[in-house]
Amino acid sequence: MTATPARFATWSQESAVALLAETSTGPGPVLLSLQAVQDRFGYVPAEAVSLIADACNVSRADVHGVLTFYTDLRTSPPPDVPVRLCAAEACQSVGGRELKRDWERRCGESAELAEATGADEPVFCLGNCALAPAALVGGVLVGRATVEKVESMVHGSRQESP
Ligand code: FES
Repeated sequence: MTATPARFATWSQESAVALLAETSTGPGPVLLSLQAVQDRFGYVPAEAVSLIADACNVSRADVHGVLTFYTDLRTSPPPDVPVRLCAAEACQSVGGRELKRDWERRCGESAELAEATGADEPVFCLGNCALAPAALVGGVLVGRATVEKVESMVHGSRQESP
């Protein structure tokens, strides 16, 4: 299993229970609770599903259903600097496919870069079509993305990390 990046808290059941006590007030806050856990720990561990189910008074299947419906919710720790390349039409029309191909080639050349950024999880429109191709690098929106620009941002982001 990948280690949790330093910007996130290390998973602990006690910390999650306290967090859920804050976020699960009111009816049906399953999605809010999942997001809160992911914001705190970087992902939603399997152990959190039953905690959220209890806190929200729903079944574990209900929580699992929400967790697996939204692709932005993760069930494993994220890489240090996740890179997501837009795969939607506007970006494809100005080189998005070529960017993805070249990015994969670059990650194939550098195991360190591949490990730091993880596998590209396609995203469909980042709302930045006018500056396509677009990417998210460690959660930061990038316009007119190139392999060089993305890689530079990855290295810059890693140097800023504690
Ligand atoms: S299609 Fe890529 S940002 Fe909109």
